[in-house]
Amino acid sequence: TKMKLYLFFFTFFILVPEKHVFTIPRDEVLWALPQTDEQVEALQDLLNTTEVILWQPVAVENIQKDREVHFYVRASSINSIKAQLRQLTIQHKVLMGDVQGIIEKQTTNDTVNARGSSSYYENYHSMKEISKSKEKSKNAIWIDCGIHAREWISPAFCLWFIGHAIHVRERDRTMTTLLEHFDFYVMPVINVDGYEYTWSHPSNRLWRKSRSSHGNSKCIGTDMNRNFDAHWCGPGASHFECQEIYCGPYPESEPEVKAVARFVRDHKDIIKAYITMHSYSQLVLFPYSYTMNKSKDHEELESLAQKAAKAIKRTTWKTYRPGAGAQTIYLAPGGSDDWAYDLGIKYSFTFELRDTGTYGFLLPPREIKPTCLEALSAVKEIAQHVLQNL
Ligand code: ARG
Ligand code: ZN
Repeated sequence: TKMKLYLFFFTFFILVPEKHVFTIPRDEVLWALPQTDEQVEALQDLLNTTEVILWQPVAVENIQKDREVHFYVRASSINSIKAQLRQLTIQHKVLMGDVQGIIEKQTTNDTVNARGSSSYYENYHSMKEISKSKEKSKNAIWIDCGIHAREWISPAFCLWFIGHAIHVRERDRTMTTLLEHFDFYVMPVINVDGYEYTWSHPSNRLWRKSRSSHGNSKCIGTDMNRNFDAHWCGPGASHFECQEIYCGPYPESEPEVKAVARFVRDHKDIIKAYITMHSYSQLVLFPYSYTMNKSKDHEELESLAQKAAKAIKRTTWKTYRPGAGAQTIYLAPGGSDDWAYDLGIKYSFTFELRDTGTYGFLLPPREIKPTCLEALSAVKEIAQHVLQNL
C-alpha cells in the first residue's frame, strides 16, 4: 500500500505541469509602461528587433516615458518577449489574451441580418457585403419625378420616398419587407434644367418643358412626356416648338429622356414596375395614353389602380380617380408610362398628385406631407401586388 500511494502522488504531481507545458500558446496584445529614458530606449530596441505589431503609439520612435505602449505579439515570441521585459524591469501586462478569438468575433454576422433591420448596423461588414451592387441585381421598382418642371410636388415626393426608405428600419413593416425584396431606383428630378428654371425667377414658375433649343425657332423646350418612343408625336402631341406638348424633333431627342430610357431599357428584366409622378388632378393612370384602346393587362391594372386609390383614401381621405390615361384625361402619346409598358414592364403607372385645382401647380408646402403619405401608401400597394405576382 505504501508503494501504491507513492505512485499515486507521483502521477498526480507530474500531470499538472505537463498540461501547462503543452498548452498551445496564443497571440496576445501586451501593455507596457516605460518609466525611465533607459527603459524607453530598451523597449524601442526590443520592439525593433522582434516581430511585433505596434498598436500604440503608431511607431517605435514615438514611444515616450510614462506613456502606455500596446503591441501585438505572435504566439511564438510571447515567452521570450515577456522574459526580456521582466529582465528590463519594464512594467507590463497582458491586454488581450485571446486576440484570435476577438478577431473571429468581429466577422460573424456579416451576412446574417437584413439591411432593413437595425441589428445590421450593429455589426461589421465585408467589402463584398458593402458593395453588394456587384452581385446579381435584385428585382427593382423604378420611380421618377419631375418630368414636368412646374409640378413641384413630384420631386418633393421622390425626396420623401428616399428619406422614408432610408430611415424606416422596423417602423414600417410593409416597407421593410419591400426593401428586402426590391431595389428602388428613384430619379428625383428628370427635367433638371426646367426645374431649375422654375426656381430661378418667379415669372418662370409655370414652365413645363425642358430647356433645349431647336434650330432658329424662337421657342424653347420639349415636353419630355411626349418625347418617349411610344407612338411618338401622334394625336395629342404637337410638332410645333412653341406648344406645351411639343414632342421634340425626334424620339428621345432630349438627353434627359434618352438617359432614362437607356437605363430602363438596360434594366428591363429586373424592373418590375415603372411609376412616374406628376401633378395635378389626383389620378392613378395606367396605359394606354396614346390610344383609346385597352391594353392587354387592362383588367389587372385597373383593379390595382383601384386598390392604390383605396389605400390613399384610407390614408388621408383624399379621392384619387383610377383609369387608363387616354380614357381618363386625354390622348397623350410619347409618354414614359406607355413606353415602359410596351417595353414589357407591365405594372406601369402615372400618378397625378394633389390637388384638383384649388392651388394646382402652386400646392402649398403644408400639403407636401399629406400628399407624400397618401402617395406612399399607393406606391406600397402597387409594390406589394408586384411582389405577390413575381
Ligand atoms: N398630365 C400628364 C401629361 O400630360 C399625363 C400623363 C399620362 N400619361 C401619358 N403617357 N400621357 O403628360
Ligand atoms: Zn406632368
